[in-house]
Amino acid sequence: MTMLPCVCWLQPVLMVLTSVFWTRGENCPATCLCPDPHTVDCSGRGLTHLPDEIPLDVRRLLLADNWIPRIPSDFLVLYSDLVYLDLRNNTLSYIEPGTLSTSSRLVFLDLGSNNLTEIPKGTFGESRSLIKLRLGNNPYLSMVNEDAFLGLTSLRELELERNALSSLKVGALSQLPSLRVVRLEGNPWVCNCNFASLFAWLMENSQKLPNGVEGMECSLPMDGRRVSLTQLSNDSFRECQASLTLTDLLIIIFSGISVSVVAIMTSFFLASTVHCFQRWSKGSKGDEEESEE
Ligand SMILES: *[C@@H]1O[C@H](CO)[C@@H](O)[C@H](O)[C@H]1NC(C)=O
Ligand SMILES: *[C@@H]1O[C@H](CO)[C@@H](O)[C@H](O)[C@H]1NC(C)=O
Repeated sequence: MTMLPCVCWLQPVLMVLTSVFWTRGENCPATCLCPDPHTVDCSGRGLTHLPDEIPLDVRRLLLADNWIPRIPSDFLVLYSDLVYLDLRNNTLSYIEPGTLSTSSRLVFLDLGSNNLTEIPKGTFGESRSLIKLRLGNNPYLSMVNEDAFLGLTSLRELELERNALSSLKVGALSQLPSLRVVRLEGNPWVCNCNFASLFAWLMENSQKLPNGVEGMECSLPMDGRRVSLTQLSNDSFRECQASLTLTDLLIIIFSGISVSVVAIMTSFFLASTVHCFQRWSKGSKGDEEESEE
């Protein structure tokens, strides 16, 4: 009997608590599942846009296997608790620069199997928490800016496999201080002189490639034949530097010659003009003297 007042006091508290959790549950978007208070799972629901009414405190948002074509640039400002965002296998074609804000808590971002064509500078802001970024299997992704990943100081894993990359500025990778794993295989790399510095970086960092350089191929600029990177060495690109300096040398020599020729012609022209003028003025002076006599 002495316990009764205590229970009476507990009951309303419990009711309030339940109603809080009930409201949370109601916040789950209609077509999605919310297995725990911080996870919203809308994978494979045929969504053509982001669902409305995603709870603002969501931490794990699973949106894979839908038809979502864009995410608003302020998305991570709104959902600032997001840690894990899976947008794999959607129809995203463009990520507005700054979509990942500096204050973002995002650790994992999957944009694989989408329709991205380009990763411009500053796309990911300075998302210092981001550890894993998946961008593979975007069949039209042919341009990754040298500063695309600038500021991603915690990024450990970067996936760029099976895209349409024929070249990549080495700075895009060498600017990542925490990078441990990078996937680049299955791209139509062309091993021309633009590839030389990336090749040198790959040789030095082959332990970061899951299958080493064996897993990577490039096509030769001469005949398009595909070769494994293991068949190449830094020596294969030595010619690049040589031909480059040779071209430079030719340009320098040629422009030197042109400048000299022009200079010689100009001075010759000037000299003959002066000479003619002197002769003419002398001649006319003589005439004057003659007429005075
Ligand atoms: C991608 O999503 C579509 C649509 O939901 C689905 O039919 C397809 O099986 C998914 N592809 C993969 C590789 O999961
Ligand atoms: C993907 O992009 C290509 C070329 O940019 C376009 O032709 C195609 O329609 C796009 N597909 C989807 C599903 O958006």
